[in-house]
Amino acid sequence: MRTQVAIIGAGPAGLMLAHLLHLRGIDSIVLEARDRAYVESRVRAGLLEQGTVDLMTETGVGERMHAQGLLHHGIKLRFAGQTHRIDFQKTVGRAVMVYAQQEVVKDLIAARLGYNAPLHFEADAYAIEGADSAHPKVRFRHGGKEHEIDCDFIAGCDGFHGIARHAAPEGKFATFSHEYPFGWLGILAESPPGSDELIYANHERGFALLTMRSPTVSRLYLQVAPDEDIANWSDARIWDELHRRLSVPGDDPVIEGKIFQKSVTPMRSFVTEPMRYGRLFLAGDAAHIVPPTGAKGLNLAVADVRVLALALEDFYTRGDECGLDGYSEKCLKRVWRAQHFSWWMTTMLHRYDGDAFDNRRQIGELESVVNSQAGQTYLAENYSGLPF
Ligand code: APR
Ligand code: PHB
Repeated sequence: MRTQVAIIGAGPAGLMLAHLLHLRGIDSIVLEARDRAYVESRVRAGLLEQGTVDLMTETGVGERMHAQGLLHHGIKLRFAGQTHRIDFQKTVGRAVMVYAQQEVVKDLIAARLGYNAPLHFEADAYAIEGADSAHPKVRFRHGGKEHEIDCDFIAGCDGFHGIARHAAPEGKFATFSHEYPFGWLGILAESPPGSDELIYANHERGFALLTMRSPTVSRLYLQVAPDEDIANWSDARIWDELHRRLSVPGDDPVIEGKIFQKSVTPMRSFVTEPMRYGRLFLAGDAAHIVPPTGAKGLNLAVADVRVLALALEDFYTRGDECGLDGYSEKCLKRVWRAQHFSWWMTTMLHRYDGDAFDNRRQIGELESVVNSQAGQTYLAENYSGLPF
């Protein structure tokens, strides 16, 4: 089979790219190794920057998001027994939307299938050939058979564990990474969120985050060891720890309910440079991972593919390759700013074992942020997202 752009991966990056290309009259085929039910129910973070919300709206896939998403104008930081609000509206005039990543994925799949464009589930891409030529190929297995796609370009939107990042010869991609000495235990519970805004807590027992999915579903996280065994965490222990870390005198925002999902995720920062090799372009988690404290993962993926779609449009309409040539540099600028912001939020809010100096220094840092107009604005500007 033949197409203009072969897209590997139907996560937010691959699906949004396919959608943006469709709107520009550029053909693509999307290959996804897992089945539809799996990708539509995969639990991830759920916070959309203003730019992501605007892009979904402008491209006609924002209807459910506007009906069901929760618009937030600030967040709360809790430390040393006190709560401080960072007001996004007042500081930077922007807002964010709480809307689960798998709902974005569902909306984009529905759009793709609605206009009958090719999206193959259980299609496992196993080889990329000729990425440095004008005629690259993707080989994949689907329905017990082997197939190949001849294309002009390949978009590697296949996440951190995909094949695209490994398709260039040794030495063409450089990688940069940082591991954190903790992970997040996350739960979904049938309970109303006990705060109308997210609460990020730096507590002596470790970081905790209260977030939500709807007026009846809470999402809560606890800092744990990176290799923590979830079997050590009974529901009772999880609730006990959440109460302790998230409450301040006179306000316990943790409302208990049935826990229907729980998992532990290690945390890392990771970047591949450049994000292009010949006619292969990396986007989203295939190129970079951020720790979830800044809620940037999905938003960076969307920002990448927006740049890529515009560059491909210039190529196909005017033969102009400037956008393609500048893709990696343009994306990496945003990626490294987001890397810094995510690292900063993470190191400021999590507890480092037994380091009394560091823990006191963190409180000084948090005091500097919440008591300074410039500090609040810096946090708000980066959290709500740099303009696209
Ligand atoms: N062939 C086909 N599909 C593949 C292959 C392969 N060889 N390898 C991986 N995939 C698919 C995965 O099954 C997954 O559905 O690629 C998809 C990648 O999607 P995501 O991991 O969601 O990555 P991305 O679209 O870049 O989205 C970034 O996801 O990990 C979160 O926090 C991150 O929010 C961020 C977002
Ligand atoms: C979420 O709602 O899952 C979420 C929100 C903000 C974060 C991380 C996760 O920083």
